[in-house]
Amino acid sequence: MAVDMELESILRPPELSMVPYPPKVITLANGKKMVVREVTRRDVPKLLKAVHPTMFIDKDYYNVVGARVYAELIAWQYYRVQNEFCIIGQVEGILVGLVNSRLYTKETGMSLHTLAIDRGLRIGAHLFAAKMEHHIEFLEQDDVLIVAESPIGFRRWMTEYGLEPTGIPHELGGAPAYRLTRELYFNAKSRLVVGDRPVSDALLEEAKQDIIVADEKMIREKIAGLKGR
Ligand SMILES: CC(C)(COP(=O)(O)OP(=O)(O)OC[C@H]1O[C@@H](n2cnc3c(N)ncnc32)[C@H](O)[C@@H]1OP(=O)(O)O)[C@@H](O)C(=O)NCCC(=O)NCCS
Repeated sequence: MAVDMELESILRPPELSMVPYPPKVITLANGKKMVVREVTRRDVPKLLKAVHPTMFIDKDYYNVVGARVYAELIAWQYYRVQNEFCIIGQVEGILVGLVNSRLYTKETGMSLHTLAIDRGLRIGAHLFAAKMEHHIEFLEQDDVLIVAESPIGFRRWMTEYGLEPTGIPHELGGAPAYRLTRELYFNAKSRLVVGDRPVSDALLEEAKQDIIVADEKMIREKIAGLKGR
């Protein structure tokens, strides 16, 4: 796409500087190692391939979340969203889930989405925890505003972290946001935020070499094979 940089300097929102998220490795319940790492705008086309099939899965709100994530990732790629970051989970190079989020202000985070592509291993829960870890520990924010679009999401975030309700409309549709404070984060940390650093060179190299996207049929089977909840 041809880009008029003069106009772009007006269209692109100003960005806060953000420290990178240091990668970590989580041993999942099946014994496999999931590398959790931050990706860049250059990785977006690959991520879109994995998100695309979820837009058509009318189960557990995958279609709602998938469509929104798809739009948010493209907006990020073309600098149409402010202060966004994206963290992915990979097992043997294969993309198994992703989270995205943004800084609303320097002090307050605005959590966007969590999407688990492989299921039953708390991959979504681990990636959400990594997102909160980044907001609170590395970006040193005071709090994060969060909403749930699905009952599973509500159990995972509001219930497991004991998030506090607020009357603040969240960017995702205006529903009243829940808030993760630093205190709630550190109360939950030993229970919910796991992983080891540093990641070995071999594992990190494997993850960075390629983001492998499972074929569409496999993604549909992994997700849509579940009973509705
Ligand atoms: C919400 C989400 C991120 C949670 O991911 P997760 O922590 O990896 O959890 P899973 O989806 O694997 O598991 C959710 C439930 O389904 C169950 N489940 C998972 N795989 C299963 C399987 N193969 N057979 C039966 N049950 C299964 C789990 O036991 C779990 O139940 P629990 O909540 O009572 O523990 C994920 O469900 C998701 O991406 N959903 C669609 C998008 C979404 O709602 N995002 C969050 C918006 S707020």
